[in-house]
Amino acid sequence: MHVPKAELHLHIEGTLEPDLAFALAARNGVELPYADTEELRRAYLFEDLQSFLDLYYGLMAVLHTEADFEELADAYLARAAQQGVRHAEIFFDPQAHTARGVGIGTVIEGLGRALDRSVERHGVSTRLIMCFLRDESAESALATLDAAKPYLHRITGIGLDSAEVGHPPVKFREVYEAAAALGLRRVAHAGEEGPPEYITEALDVLGVERIDHGLRCVEDPVLVERLVRDRVPLTLCPLSNVRLRAVDVLESHPLPAMLSAGLMCTVNSDDPAYFGGYVGDTFHAVHEALGLGPEQLRELARNSFLASFLEDDEGLRERYLAEVAAYEFD
Ligand code: HPA
Ligand code: ZN
Repeated sequence: MHVPKAELHLHIEGTLEPDLAFALAARNGVELPYADTEELRRAYLFEDLQSFLDLYYGLMAVLHTEADFEELADAYLARAAQQGVRHAEIFFDPQAHTARGVGIGTVIEGLGRALDRSVERHGVSTRLIMCFLRDESAESALATLDAAKPYLHRITGIGLDSAEVGHPPVKFREVYEAAAALGLRRVAHAGEEGPPEYITEALDVLGVERIDHGLRCVEDPVLVERLVRDRVPLTLCPLSNVRLRAVDVLESHPLPAMLSAGLMCTVNSDDPAYFGGYVGDTFHAVHEALGLGPEQLRELARNSFLASFLEDDEGLRERYLAEVAAYEFD
């Protein structure tokens, strides 16, 4: 679905398509434990978040050079453009690479090379959000922020991802305070598999401006009231929720009820190479499975630009919002 939209919840490592994974494996002399792309695709049957993360981190072994990261990001931006994405705020997981001996500068400069040409090549404006792995230590997150200091001109904000349960937001209070002092914007995954209390804690302790996922807020009416009142954006990822079994089937996703409750919802693809669709496909899927009509789809698109970190270019945000308003659904 081509309505102009911003993508706000997208892990660049989750855009690694099987074809590119095998091409990079060959180029870098990496042996993958799959015979071919078909066998790899057959492994994409996930039980939960952790079973996905095991495969996701494993496949990253093919990413080594700046050129690899540039190619990964450029391939995503080309696909995103075809799906109506006009602006993308892209997550990356530096610790998943530095732990394998790949320098943080290689990661950021490689991604940065693709992002620098994105407007000209693909018509997609971009921002970069550096995520910390919440199943690693707080000290490791602080060391990562420190290592990123020479590259802060490329980074708009920080996020928190990976295995959620047992790793509450409060564990990362210090690194979020340090990032805020550096002028970085703050988001965090919360309420994907973790309880609604993690959403409250991310807001109160980490000072986040958006909640990534936030699905489980629906279990706590008082929290929903707060999120509605404060217009806290939620970056929902319905296809991810189905694949990682947060919901049984897309038809039972609470998105329509969340919109009706007045929550500021956006829809996003999360890890599109693994979860069966990019964000245009996701818009199409929620239209088909949940019966969302033009006005709700327009609201989702509008919310995506309202929730994006475009404070440094309000003119661009206005142009995007005007495009959303003028879009004709067929
Ligand atoms: N949740 C947490 N961590 C992640 C995800 C996700 O959906 N995708 C990539 N890292
Ligand atoms: Zn995510």
